[in-house]
Amino acid sequence: MPQVRVDVHSAGGDYPILIGDGLADRAAERLDEWRVGPRRVVVSNPVVWRVHGERMAAALPGAEVILVPDGERHKTLASVARIYDALVRAGADRGSVIVAVGGGVTCDMAGFAAATFLRGIGLVQVPTTLLAQVDASVGGKVGVNLAAGKNLVGAFYPPRLVVTDPLFLRTLPRREYRAGLYEVIKYGIACSADLFARLDREAARLTDPTSPVIATIIADCCRIKAAIVSADEREAGGRRVLNFGHTTGHAVETLTGYRRFRHGEAVAWGMLVASRVAAGRGLIAEDEGRALKALVMRLGPLPPVADLPADRVLDLVKRDKKVVDGSLHFVLPAGLGATRIVDDVAEGELREALVSVGFGQA
Ligand SMILES: NC(=O)c1ccc[n+]([C@@H]2O[C@H](COP(=O)([O-])OP(=O)(O)OC[C@H]3O[C@@H](n4cnc5c(N)ncnc54)[C@H](O)[C@@H]3O)[C@@H](O)[C@H]2O)c1
Ligand SMILES: [Zn+2]
Repeated sequence: MPQVRVDVHSAGGDYPILIGDGLADRAAERLDEWRVGPRRVVVSNPVVWRVHGERMAAALPGAEVILVPDGERHKTLASVARIYDALVRAGADRGSVIVAVGGGVTCDMAGFAAATFLRGIGLVQVPTTLLAQVDASVGGKVGVNLAAGKNLVGAFYPPRLVVTDPLFLRTLPRREYRAGLYEVIKYGIACSADLFARLDREAARLTDPTSPVIATIIADCCRIKAAIVSADEREAGGRRVLNFGHTTGHAVETLTGYRRFRHGEAVAWGMLVASRVAAGRGLIAEDEGRALKALVMRLGPLPPVADLPADRVLDLVKRDKKVVDGSLHFVLPAGLGATRIVDDVAEGELREALVSVGFGQA
C-alpha cells in the first residue's frame, strides 16, 4: 500500500495521519515536509526503545531521547514530571517538538506533557501498537491516570502530525496485537458494514501482523474515527458510538483489577453482551448476531468470564456514570455497521445478556 493520508479536523488545528509501511524510517523527512520544527525530543519507553531505538535514532538524527518506564501503572503525573525535567535539562523551548514513540500509554502521556510544558509545545505521535494506531493516536485526547481512576487528568490537544507505520506491529507481543484487533472489529460493527464485511472475509489473515491487508484496515479505522472526532471533537454526542462494548468492558476490567484482561479483550466481551441485549430487542437479526460473535471468536480464545458473577459486573456498570434513574445508557448495535444509543436498558435485561454470553450466575 502506498502512503495514505487521513486528515483530522480539530478546533486546535487540522492535522494529518500518514500511514504506510516503513514510514517511521523516514520520520525526519515527513516532519520537515510538514514543517514540524527542527528541535525534536523523542519520548519513548525502554521496551519499545530496545527493539526500535536504533532504527528511530537513525530516523530522527540529533533528537534528544527521553525514556519513561513502561506500562499503564506508569501513566502518571510523576512520569510526566520526569518528562518536564528532562525537557528542561535538554534546553527545550517553545519551538521544541515532542515525538512520542510507543503504544497508547506513551502517546497519551507524552501528549499530555506536550500539551502542558510551557503551555503547549508541538507534538508528533508515532504509535507502535495496533490499539494506538487505530485509536489512541486519532482524536487528540491526551492524559494520565490518577490513583482514583484511569484518564482522570487530560486535555484535548491535537498533534501536528501522526506517523503510523504498520511494520512496528511485527514486534508486538501476539496478545497485544490481538487485543488491538477487537477495537478494529468495534469500528466494523459500530460504524461500517463495509469494514465488517472485509474483516469477515479476511478473518484468517487478520491475526497475522505481517499481512499486507493490515495497513489498509488501519487506514479504514483511522478514516472512521477521524470522521467521527472531526464532527465531535469534545465528545458532545457523536463520539459516543465509539464506546460500543466499553460499558461492560470497563466493568470487567475493574472487577478483575486490570490484571486478567487486556483492554481490547474486555471490550470484546462487552461487545458480545451489548449484542445480546440488541438481539433481545430485535435491533439485530439472529444471523447478524451470529456473524458478529463468530468474528470475535475467530481471533482466538478470550480470557474466561465464567467465574465473574453477572451481578458483580452489573453493580459496577451501575456505579459508572451512565445510569439514570435505574436505567442504563448503552450503545447497542443496530444491524452491522450502525448503532443506537439507548437509555432504558433494564438491569434484568443486562443480567440476562451477561449470563447468556457466559458470565457466572449470581
Ligand atoms: N487517547 C485516546 O483517545 C486513547 C484511546 C484508546 C486508548 N488510550 C490509552 O491507550 C493505552 C493503552 O495503549 P496500548 O494498548 O498501546 O498499551 P501500551 O502503550 O502499554 O503498549 C502495550 C505494550 O506493548 C509494548 N510495545 C509497544 N509497541 C511495541 C512494539 N512495536 N513492539 C513490541 N512491544 C511494543 C509497550 O511498551 C507495552 O509494554 C491506555 O492507557 C488507554 O487509556 C487512549
Ligand atoms: Zn477502547
